[in-house]
Amino acid sequence: MDRMEVTETFAGISLPGHLHTEESLRFASSFQFQDTDVVIVTYPKSGTTWMQEILTLIYSKGDLEPAKTIPNWARAPWLEHTYFKDMLQETSGPRLITTHLPCQVLAPALRKSKAKVIYMARNPKDVAVSFYHFHKMARFLPDPGSFEDFLVRFLEGTVQYGSWFDHVKGWLSQRAELDLFYITYEDLHQELGRSVERLADWLGCPLQPEESRAIQQHCSFSSMRENTMVNYTLIPCEIMDHSRGRFMRKGIVGDWRDHFTPVQNMHFHKIYQEEMQDSSLRFRGLMD
Ligand code: A3P
Repeated sequence: MDRMEVTETFAGISLPGHLHTEESLRFASSFQFQDTDVVIVTYPKSGTTWMQEILTLIYSKGDLEPAKTIPNWARAPWLEHTYFKDMLQETSGPRLITTHLPCQVLAPALRKSKAKVIYMARNPKDVAVSFYHFHKMARFLPDPGSFEDFLVRFLEGTVQYGSWFDHVKGWLSQRAELDLFYITYEDLHQELGRSVERLADWLGCPLQPEESRAIQQHCSFSSMRENTMVNYTLIPCEIMDHSRGRFMRKGIVGDWRDHFTPVQNMHFHKIYQEEMQDSSLRFRGLMD
């Protein structure tokens, strides 16, 4: 398989070379957004796939056909991935675009358009846990070592995709500059129906009650876990080793409690306070 061991460095962060090349990253950073584009921005493992599914179904008005027949990466392709150009040509209507790139790379281009940006964040302790498990199955990511070692690198921001803190702070600093909708993984967990309806209204695509109900049903963890168009089982084992875990792993809030020792928890909070001191962000499930 191509470039499985390669790491690309871009804008000061490391990215898997299997998905990113110098050319694909240059293309992404000079991309011309259209006013009708809808861009899903996340740090990895924050519920990106969930949001891709919800947006697909908002635009299809609850019709399950696209969600059940087209893989998520073709419905809402990743701007920075090598295949993006080809996928985008096939898209009609408002283009759904996904990205994990940091704000300093994309915000200047986004500010030149009226594109809508959805920033989805997740409690960073659960992100660290989910990311750790994902490293074990994703062969294009380095061996994570022990959870303890991985957590140190996550807090330092030296993991692939860079610092969670910089990603969240950077993008949320653009709230006044961009047409940006901020939502968390925990919001979706707590109030899926209300979150879907708020998103649909903001996108100018209000839903009928039965459409909203169909979306909620289809976007439950159990239903998405069985949908081969989003559960990544279409990806061959040479790229994602399905014997080492499932992409749709647990889908819960607070899984960190099964992974963090009290000392790791205290250390995490110390770093969190230092990094986020000026921020009003609160994540359900972050504290005990
Ligand atoms: P876990 O590893 O904690 O289970 P991303 O799509 O950004 O890579 O995020 C993947 C995480 O979102 C995984 O978390 C996955 O299980 C979770 N997820 C995906 N769809 C979900 C859903 N419908 N409900 C709850 N969690 C979901």
